[in-house]
Amino acid sequence: MGKYRIAVVVGSLRRESFNRKLADAIVKLAPPELAFTRLEIGDLPLYNQDDDANQAEPVRRLKGELKAAQGVLFVTPEYNRSIPGVLKNAIDHASRPHGQSAWAGKPAGVLGVSPGATGTSMAQQHLRNVLATLDMPTMGQPEAFIQAKDGLFDAAGNLGAASKPFLQGWMDRYVAWVKKHAD
Ligand SMILES: Cc1cc2nc3c(=O)[nH]c(=O)nc-3n(C[C@H](O)[C@H](O)[C@H](O)COP(=O)(O)O)c2cc1C
Repeated sequence: MGKYRIAVVVGSLRRESFNRKLADAIVKLAPPELAFTRLEIGDLPLYNQDDDANQAEPVRRLKGELKAAQGVLFVTPEYNRSIPGVLKNAIDHASRPHGQSAWAGKPAGVLGVSPGATGTSMAQQHLRNVLATLDMPTMGQPEAFIQAKDGLFDAAGNLGAASKPFLQGWMDRYVAWVKKHAD
């Protein structure tokens, strides 16, 4: 049970975030050997390189949680055709000081949901660019560009019938990806 610890990073701080709901729903499709923990990124200060030698407590907490994880699951909205600033802020914090990144080598999966028809595709492509320089092996397929429509979630927050088979397939591939790349 919980052999692989997976850090879940949601790129929205919104109370009723679709992306947080998607993260909470999809982790229920994983086998018990994966244990998921959603990381808090809303209390991080704005990144300032002057602080690299003395990182704030929430930054040290974030880096500790990431270092203890065998994989990372990013679930992000698209803001102005890219990733939200809060997500980039968290990524930048945990990538520093230079040479002490907490991201390196962690297998990653990328998902996102938007009311828009393109389903966060541009944000995800931007994120993939960032994850490449962070040296994170990132699952290429299936891509999951999810549109928020009625029925995506049921009343209990589980995935609705129309999306569940696709997202179950996504999770099955992600589990295999983590097992292949986890140290
Ligand atoms: C600053 C801002 C920029 C946005 N830009 C986009 C965008 O480029 N593409 C898109 O599909 N939706 C865009 N949206 C709408 C978001 O997809 C929508 O607010 C979504 O619910 C945010 O995700 P969340 O529910 O997880 O918070 C934007 C929203 C905000 C607040």
